[in-house]
Amino acid sequence: MKISIIYATTEGHTRTISEFLSNEAQKLNHIVDLFDATLNPPPPEGYDVVIIAASIHAGKYQASVEHYVRDHHIALNQMKTIFIPVSLTAAANESELWNELKKQTEDFLIMTGWKPVLIEHTAGALLYTKYDFLKRFLMRVISNRSGGDSDASRDYIYTDWDQLKKVVEKMENLHAEK
Ligand SMILES: Cc1cc2nc3c(=O)[nH]c(=O)nc-3n(C[C@H](O)[C@H](O)[C@H](O)COP(=O)(O)O)c2cc1C
Repeated sequence: MKISIIYATTEGHTRTISEFLSNEAQKLNHIVDLFDATLNPPPPEGYDVVIIAASIHAGKYQASVEHYVRDHHIALNQMKTIFIPVSLTAAANESELWNELKKQTEDFLIMTGWKPVLIEHTAGALLYTKYDFLKRFLMRVISNRSGGDSDASRDYIYTDWDQLKKVVEKMENLHAEK
């Protein structure tokens, strides 16, 4: 299978997730091209599956991915496509936050016209050591408020790597469905 993975990241974790997916798919002998959404990725035509990953910040996905998806939604809607929204909410067990995340994701999809076959919400990371002072302060306050991790001298990765391995299996099944 020929797979395009396009990612948008602000602090780098969605790139790590996308590289992981790429490696897992390559282990199963698929051909994978990995693109940063800010670097003018090629159109989706010619690929069997397109995976698009983006992280959410203050309720919004990155503009680079929004532009790509909007420009190519007609082609994307005729193919097998997977959306991987990355967030901290996906690591939380709070229905109010989840409803908000689902609404923000739905709004993004309505705005761009994209209808992914599969949406796989994925827990991201709190990368305190990589944030600047203001971001570290802000994220500590937000995390503290929801009873989350707040030791800013270290990073916290909440991503479930087994879940992502299963995404590669799901992708193979989608492709087999035809
Ligand atoms: C400034 C800031 C704002 C964020 N806003 C949200 C948010 O609105 N909802 C959410 O679930 N996660 C939010 N997050 C968590 C990020 O989605 C999470 O850290 C993710 O792993 C970032 O991925 P990236 O490193 O690829 O940008 C925010 C993180 C930061 C630093």
